[in-house]
Amino acid sequence: MNDKVKARITGLGSYLPSKKLTNKDLETIVDTTDEWIFSRTGIQERRIAASNESTSDMGTSAAQKALQSACLTAKDIDAIVVATMTPDYTSSSVAAIIGHRLGSENIPAFDLQAACSGFLYALSVAKAYVEAKIYRRVLIVAAEKMSAYVDYQDRSTCILFGDGAAAAIIDGSGAGLSIDSLSLGADGSLAELLYVPAGGAKNPPTAETVAGRMHYFKMDGKEVFKHAVRRMGAAAKAALEQVGLKEDQVEWLVPHQANMRIMDAIAKGFNISPERMYKTVHKYGNTSASSVLIALDELVAEHQIKTGEHILLVAFGAGLTWGAAVLTQVNS
Ligand code: ACO
Repeated sequence: MNDKVKARITGLGSYLPSKKLTNKDLETIVDTTDEWIFSRTGIQERRIAASNESTSDMGTSAAQKALQSACLTAKDIDAIVVATMTPDYTSSSVAAIIGHRLGSENIPAFDLQAACSGFLYALSVAKAYVEAKIYRRVLIVAAEKMSAYVDYQDRSTCILFGDGAAAAIIDGSGAGLSIDSLSLGADGSLAELLYVPAGGAKNPPTAETVAGRMHYFKMDGKEVFKHAVRRMGAAAKAALEQVGLKEDQVEWLVPHQANMRIMDAIAKGFNISPERMYKTVHKYGNTSASSVLIALDELVAEHQIKTGEHILLVAFGAGLTWGAAVLTQVNS
């Protein structure tokens, strides 16, 4: 008897706050133009959470939708992993709060921080749990309130980011998207290309760090751009090679939604036509860890993915971190 378990995504859901921040709105906040933002990034608008809406609120809403889509309740979940770089608190975890809100009882719950690659890192953890039979069913939530960490006086970053959350159920059986390969990596020598300088143990909050606006994201956009194209290209190639697939055997490319120019460069590198690359960047901007999962949820809702079709996910973020995964639709 073959009792090997293969992890797959059996439920998806996402949540976007209703408030839109358009490029025209940003023209009234910083010295920028709709034309500059759209031509450099492909972004037209992004969503912004209400002031009383936290990362865990958005994550809980996304999780409820994912549970519903898999016809499950919180009682059916054995562990919760949350990918976020914008937690409600430095401590406690968003995952524990979401577990409580959902009505889970005493199951393990923790956050992991891999910035925009967070969902792919969480996917690797959930896959390992399920395939090693440590936990039968894992809830992944990717949730970000980027607006809480964005400096709306810094035109080079505030135009890029938006808020949002998404969730996935990882199970060992049932119809869904099987997680066939994963390739992850990180390079901490470049940690300061994109980071929040203060508020952590290295630079705890003081009047000076607040006055110096050191609690907001700082980014060297040009450098990040170069590394993003190179690292995502290599990670995607490695994930495809692991399962012996060629680029033209992939039906959909779902890249991290950071910048249309970065996404186009990835698709071009893989000879994947623009119609086969799924995009949300124009309407949500960069939602960090949530970005790939929101896009995957919308792709699956809009297009029927047929049995045997492959989806290539690829992401890149602060850390630096990167990752790619190949998913295949299975019917049981
Ligand atoms: N409006 C108008 N002008 C601007 C703006 C703006 N919003 N922002 C910058 N500029 C100006 C700059 O000041 C500069 O002016 P100067 O030449 O007089 O000095 C000029 O525009 C060019 O600036 P660059 O930074 O060279 O512009 P670039 O073409 O590189 O585009 C951008 C900037 C969009 C940020 C790009 O570098 C990029 O997308 N980088 C990747 C960012 C990214 O993906 N980050 C997320 C990583 S994922 C994560 O972990 C969260």
